[in-house]
Amino acid sequence: MFRSHTCGELRISDVNKQVTLAGWVQRSRKMGGMTFIDLRDRYGITQLVFNEEVDAALCENANRLGREFVIQITGTVNERFSKNANIPTGDIEIIVSELNVLNAALTPPFTIEDNTDGGDDIRMKYRYLDLRRPSVRRNLELRHRMTIEVRRYLDSQGFIEVETPVLVGSTPEGARDFVVPSRMNPGQFYALPQSPQTLKQLLMVSGFDRYFQIAKCFRDEDLRADRQPEFTQIDCEMSFVEQDDIINLFEGMTKYLFKEIRGVELEGQFQRMAWADAMKYYGSDKPDLRFGMKFVELMDILKGHGFSVFDSAEYIGGICAEGAAHYTRKQLDALTEFVKRPQVGAKGMVYARVEEDGNVKSSVDKFYTQEVLQQVKEAFGAKPGDLILILSGDDTMKTRKQLCELRLEMGNQLGLRDKNTFACLWVVDFPMFEWSEQENRLMAMHHPFTHPKDEDIDLLDTDPAAVRADAYDMVINGVEVGGGSIRIHDPKLQAKMFEILGFTPEKAEEQFGFLMNAFKYGAPPHGGLAYGLDRWVSLFAGLDSIRDCIAFPKNNSGRDVMLDAPAALDPSQLDELNLIVDIKE
Ligand code: AMO
Repeated sequence: MFRSHTCGELRISDVNKQVTLAGWVQRSRKMGGMTFIDLRDRYGITQLVFNEEVDAALCENANRLGREFVIQITGTVNERFSKNANIPTGDIEIIVSELNVLNAALTPPFTIEDNTDGGDDIRMKYRYLDLRRPSVRRNLELRHRMTIEVRRYLDSQGFIEVETPVLVGSTPEGARDFVVPSRMNPGQFYALPQSPQTLKQLLMVSGFDRYFQIAKCFRDEDLRADRQPEFTQIDCEMSFVEQDDIINLFEGMTKYLFKEIRGVELEGQFQRMAWADAMKYYGSDKPDLRFGMKFVELMDILKGHGFSVFDSAEYIGGICAEGAAHYTRKQLDALTEFVKRPQVGAKGMVYARVEEDGNVKSSVDKFYTQEVLQQVKEAFGAKPGDLILILSGDDTMKTRKQLCELRLEMGNQLGLRDKNTFACLWVVDFPMFEWSEQENRLMAMHHPFTHPKDEDIDLLDTDPAAVRADAYDMVINGVEVGGGSIRIHDPKLQAKMFEILGFTPEKAEEQFGFLMNAFKYGAPPHGGLAYGLDRWVSLFAGLDSIRDCIAFPKNNSGRDVMLDAPAALDPSQLDELNLIVDIKE
C-alpha cells in the first residue's frame, strides 16, 4: 500500500494519527527553519511540514523537491496554527517523519492550478498535466456522475444498453463522414457512425423495445465551441410509442438529472414551442428562454413613411430591452457595429428610447411622427426607461437570425443569461425538409427516417416544403442538448421520402436497402432521441466550450495536438492498405 489516506480526507478529529500519503508536490515554501509543502492528489491538498531543527537531513531532502515531484510521506497529523478556511483539510498539517521520492518531474510548462498561467495551446499539448488541475478534473468527475445517473435512470425504466459497431458503412445526408480504409477489401472504406441512427432502428425491428447507448459519434464538420469531430451521445430508441410518450419519459430523465446532479427541482411541464414560433419570436430553433425580449414585427406600423430602408424591407422587427434607455450614444454605436459585423450581417440598427414622460425618441425621428412612434411603443408594451432596437432586411429569415444575435448580445450585456438559471424547452413541429442552396434540392431537416405529421402527409405530393415532422429538440438555455423524432416504419412511406429527397429507387436501395428490407419483416412503430452528453455536462458545469469536459479533445482545426493526429501514414502502411496518396493542390 502506497498510502493510508488521501490528501483530501484528514480532519481535526485525526490529530495525532500516524498517516502515509502519496501525491504530487503542488508548491513548497521555506520560512526560516521550516519547509511547507502542499501535497496534491485527486482528492485535495494537505500541508506537509518539515522542521530543520527536528531532522535537518529530512528537511534538506524536502528542500530539493520540485513542483510535480511524486512523493510518499509518513508523519503525524497535527492541528494547524494558522488555519486555511479555503480547503477542507485546512485545520490540519502533517509533521513528516519519512520522505520517499517516488519520481522526479520536469518543471511543468504551466502552473497546475485553477488560475493557471498556461494558454490554450500549451495546455492542449500537455493535456495530461492540464487534467491535474482541479477545475478540469471536476468536469470529468461530473461527466462520470452524469453517465452513472443516466444509466441508473434508463435501467429503472427498462432500457437495455446495446453497443453498436464503430466501423460502419458511409451514408449520405447529414454531415461528412470520417472514413477508414479496409486492408482486407482493397479500395473499400468503412465510415465511422455520425450516430447509431439506423442501427438503433434495426434493434427495434429485433424487438428490443427500449434501447440506449452512450455512443461515440463522428462528424467531419466545421467546429465550434459546442462541436467536436468526435463526441458522445446518450442515444435512445423506443417501440410502440408516440411523440408524447418519448417527450414525457425524457423530460422525466432531465428532471432526475437536474435533481441528482445539480440539486435543482424543475417544477411543472417544460414549455413546448412550435419551430415556426421559435423562428418568429426568437429567430432561432434553440431560443434562450432565460429572458424575454420576444420579437415584435413592425411592418404594419413602420412601412410607408418615407424611410427608404424600411419601405423596401421584407421584414422589420425589434426587441425591447427593459430599463436600458440609459444606453449612451457610444454604447448604441457599439451595438450597431455589433450587428454590422460579418458574422451577424445586418446593414444597420434603429433605436428608440422611451423617455420618462412617455415620449419616444428615436434615431429615425425625422421620418416618423410621435404618433407612429407611440404605436411602436404600444406594440412592445414598452415603459418609460425602456430601449427598443429595430432591424430590417430583405430576407425575413436572415433578418430574424440577425435580430436573434442582437437579442442574445443584449441578454449578455444586461446580465440576463445567468449560468445557474435553467430554462428548459421542447421545440416541436420542425419542418420535414429544408432547401439546400448548395445541392439545389430539398434535404431532410432532421434525417430521412423522420415521420411526417399525419395531418401533413397529403402535402408530400403537393407542397413538400410545407410538411412538418414529428421531430423535437430539447433546448436548455439556448443550447440544443438533444433531438429526435418518430420514425417512419412503413417501407412505402420511406420509399416516398427517398424519392422527394432526390434518390432514385436504385440509389435508395443501394444506400438504405438494409433498412427498407428489414422494415418488410415487421417493424414496430418507433421513435427516439439522442442527447449530446458533452453539451449537457458543459451546461451543468457552466463551461463555455465542450472541450473542457472531454478528457482528450481536438482543437478547432480538428487536431489532437498532444498525439499529433491526424498525421501522414508510413509508406509501408499505405502499401498494405493498397492506397496511393495524391494530394490535390
Ligand atoms: P442530432 O444530429 O440532432 O440527432 O444529434 C443529437 C445531439 O447530439 C449533439 N451533437 C453534438 N455534440 C457535440 N459535437 C457535435 N459535433 C454534435 N453534433 C450533435 C447535440 C444534438 O442535439 N440520430 C439523431 C437522434 C435521433 O433522431 O434519435 C441525431 O444524431 O446535442
